[in-house]
Amino acid sequence: MRKNIVAGNWKMNKNLQEGIALAKELNEALKGKTVKCDVVIGTPYIHLAGVADSIDTSRVGVAAQNCADKELGAYTGEVSAAMIASTGAKYVILGHSERRAYYHETAETLKEKVTLALANGLTPIFCIGEVLEERESEKHFEVVKSQIAASLFDLASEDFGKIVLAYEPVWAIGTGKTATAAQAQEMHAFIRSTLAEKYGQVVADNTSILYGGSANASNAKELFSNPDVDGGLIGGASLAVDKFMPIIEAF
Ligand code: 13P
Repeated sequence: MRKNIVAGNWKMNKNLQEGIALAKELNEALKGKTVKCDVVIGTPYIHLAGVADSIDTSRVGVAAQNCADKELGAYTGEVSAAMIASTGAKYVILGHSERRAYYHETAETLKEKVTLALANGLTPIFCIGEVLEERESEKHFEVVKSQIAASLFDLASEDFGKIVLAYEPVWAIGTGKTATAAQAQEMHAFIRSTLAEKYGQVVADNTSILYGGSANASNAKELFSNPDVDGGLIGGASLAVDKFMPIIEAF
């Protein structure tokens, strides 16, 4: 079923002690509160086990920010989906634009990562989004559709039903330049219609589509009030509880 989700992406921030302290503080802030969305934090790999052990993971879900495109073996420096699942993490962010741009992740490797994540019981939070040039030349719909199709459309509908999507226009990430609520809604509705064409309306209606890119306490309410925006993937504003909580409470 479609859920509202507010997920933090800490990126490469916070050492282990700081990360565990932040996770505990968020866990405490949510204790006894009724919130209208699932809450997730995406931490660096080395934080996963410590964070998952320090909080109530039914209150705050834990996500990795990447996983290997191989199952196991001689891949120095890589971390497998099975290893992530063994920490207590339940989600993995895949295909973030920073991974695509700086680490040359391709649609093909992402397809492998999605398959391995699902095989290990992890929920992929799969990121898509155009760069500024693509929006300015009005290719943004085409780009987003092909990112989804190239990595996800070989999935059976039952497996696709386990995916969370995150639309993150690259020009809005870390720039303070949020997409307007209308731009977010327009793209999210397009994404949902693309899913409906491929998997049918029921699957499309059940898919959570998050928005990411300079979302914060002051714009979250307007963004989340759109019918096709089911939450947010939050970078900078997820690094402090007093900035992240109002976004959670925007639902
Ligand atoms: P900011 O919220 O810092 O713009 O980052 C968004 C993002 O990339 C989340 O994955």
